[in-house]
Amino acid sequence: MAIERLVEPTASESTDEERIEITLRPVSFDEYIGQEHLKNNLKLAIDAVKKRSDGSTLDHILLYGPPGLGKTTMAGVIAHELGASLRVTSGPAIERAGDLASILTNLKDGDVLFIDEIHRLRRAVEEVLYSAMEDYKLDIVIGKGPAARSVRLDLPHFTVIGATTRTGSLAGPLRDRFGIIHRLEYYKEPEIEQIINRTAGILKTKIQPDATELLATRSRLTPRIANRLFKRVRDYADVNGDGIVDVEIARDALKLMEIDFLGLDPADRNMLQLMWDNYGDRPVGLTTIAALTGDEATTIEDYYEPYLLQLGLLARTPRGRMVTEKGRKHLQNPENKL
Ligand SMILES: Nc1ncnc2c1ncn2[C@@H]1O[C@H](COP(=O)(O)OP(=O)(O)O)[C@@H](O)[C@H]1O
Ligand SMILES: [Mg+2]
Repeated sequence: MAIERLVEPTASESTDEERIEITLRPVSFDEYIGQEHLKNNLKLAIDAVKKRSDGSTLDHILLYGPPGLGKTTMAGVIAHELGASLRVTSGPAIERAGDLASILTNLKDGDVLFIDEIHRLRRAVEEVLYSAMEDYKLDIVIGKGPAARSVRLDLPHFTVIGATTRTGSLAGPLRDRFGIIHRLEYYKEPEIEQIINRTAGILKTKIQPDATELLATRSRLTPRIANRLFKRVRDYADVNGDGIVDVEIARDALKLMEIDFLGLDPADRNMLQLMWDNYGDRPVGLTTIAALTGDEATTIEDYYEPYLLQLGLLARTPRGRMVTEKGRKHLQNPENKL
């Protein structure tokens, strides 16, 4: 059985967490902290579209990168900055080409269509999408058998924002339809601190600077995790203190959650340990790792691996993943644990 993870970088299904996540979501460029390079590029593109009065629309945008870094948030910010309305869907939610056709025909000129997990679109749907993105036309077949005929519909001029954790699994023709392709980066610690302070302000909780700093170092440089740790620590402060988050409270709460000083949780350490115990410093295939931990291979690829690679605890080789010297040291130094 996979271990339930506090640091799981996707929003959990719990409606309460979803609700808080929506409250915390920045709506404008000014509120969106970090990712300066992406913001500057987008600002330029948006200003250019606004200046032109020929009805031209913003290029289609593909955002990729590990979960929790702010892709969905950015889609909302772009629509807001454009003054456009946002329609949200996801790859797995669009089951048939007909579902996509009805979404597209209901859009208006200038609308933004956000497609989350765009790498999970079905092939038949994908084909309809990329021709629609190309020339704003939709070819549909009406009727069946010998009476069937194809009609071409004009679509409104819309902008697609696609989000994916991996660009590798996106079909070439679809990828080519995006004029702007951008990778979201892990945040810098001071940016995560700003995000934590912003969250504390919105949730009306006092947090001391050294506590913010501590949480930032444990948050895997990921806003969603920073917010989640903050909320857990705030609960701990309410129960065990006077509601103010100071560094002792933060440290105790992190210990309780078993988050170590690199931000690894028990599931990360368990995976590294299993790999080390069974394979040492030899490479292991993804499916073997999945069998060892009891997770899906895609879970390992999307959630565990990116941050462990970023830290250099894990390395990817043509023959599989392996625990690095740094990874081994992290496992073997008990002081590192919590
Ligand atoms: N740049 C940012 N500034 C402030 N908060 C952010 C930022 N990016 C993300 N967040 C917070 O992190 C949460 C997760 O972001 P989200 O856009 O859902 O990530 P993704 O779609 O990449 O998985 C959001 O609810 C938001 O509160
Ligand atoms: Mg998202």
